[in-house]
Amino acid sequence: MSSTSTSPIVDIHTHMYPPSYISLLSKRTTVPYIYQPSDPTADPRLIILESDDDPSKPKESRGRPVDSTYSSFDKKREFMSIHGISCSVISLANPWLDFLDPEIALSTAVAINDDLENECAKNNSSSEHQGLKLYAFGTLPLSAPAKDIVSEIHRLKFLPHMKGVIMGTTGLGQGLDDPALNDVYAALASTGTIVFLHPHYGLPAEAFGGPSVVSKTGHVLPLALGFPLETTIAVSRMYLAGVWDQHPKLEFLLAHSGGTLPFLAGRLESCVAHEREFIANGGKTQGPERSIWDVLQNNIYLDAVIYGKPGLKAAIEAAGSVDRVMFGTDHPFFPPLGEEGGKWLSVESNKTVINGALSQDDQSIKKILGGNAVRVLGLEL
Ligand code: URA
Ligand code: ZN
Repeated sequence: MSSTSTSPIVDIHTHMYPPSYISLLSKRTTVPYIYQPSDPTADPRLIILESDDDPSKPKESRGRPVDSTYSSFDKKREFMSIHGISCSVISLANPWLDFLDPEIALSTAVAINDDLENECAKNNSSSEHQGLKLYAFGTLPLSAPAKDIVSEIHRLKFLPHMKGVIMGTTGLGQGLDDPALNDVYAALASTGTIVFLHPHYGLPAEAFGGPSVVSKTGHVLPLALGFPLETTIAVSRMYLAGVWDQHPKLEFLLAHSGGTLPFLAGRLESCVAHEREFIANGGKTQGPERSIWDVLQNNIYLDAVIYGKPGLKAAIEAAGSVDRVMFGTDHPFFPPLGEEGGKWLSVESNKTVINGALSQDDQSIKKILGGNAVRVLGLEL
């Protein structure tokens, strides 16, 4: 791929569970938790999704194995080198701090954010890791009072390697259209903090035919369909509640190319236009003032983690230009099933899709693979 040899590849969707988070999950016995099998040579199991904790299975085979690729910065660098990635913007993986007692949420967020900041600073100043830069998205103490969340948003602005925050779809517990998030959104907008919105909860098993269907097909339905639909619903609710009317500078980067939003935005727009309850149509409820296209093209960025040409083309079309779409890998999830050391199918298939969808357009490929991230997140490479 000649277009990339002189241009940086930046991975904006790449996760870690720092050692302190691994130890937090290892002390728990209910979802989310890490189970250490009695065989000390076996990898611990990461049991974070409700559907992972299937009581009909022994704990040794619930969830997924969690090895050092989840917590080691050396493994992250090794993965970057194998795939020609020059910069990673690391985020804590789901379910972040959603489940923490409010009393310890702020101190835990501060510790994890400081850890990430220090590792990025150490990496970027070391001659040993030249050519591999690390930045991070911070994590917020969302179970804590809004004032604590706001204080962490302001503090993150003083950590030079923090380039935004990652957040799930539950907000303070009631979703992202909750008016109680107003101060949080105001702080994010006024500090120019971009939110990387990532799913975790999916849809109830009943949406897929019940737990027995999910159990037979493992993570396929929750990850392929549940995750993107969760994101679609969360952002649609924000849009309908007028969050972007109230906070016109609030910027979100949506995981998995915005779920199904690029494909369904027209239907959303049409249904809003036909909804009699909105004031604009003579109804009683204030509906969104801006069009969904306006929001998509001015407040929303999309990653390119979609693994198919039609999905990527819809993302570019909905975002209004290639300038708002950014490469990601979802590492360390979706590891190869075979031997270690080679390239990952999940990464290579996304690169192939980007090249295939834009085969005649080297400039656009370079933008998606790295140029957009450098510009939007203000990365120094
Ligand atoms: N599975 C997860 O739980 N999280 C991801 O980010 C990807 C796959
Ligand atoms: Zn992810």
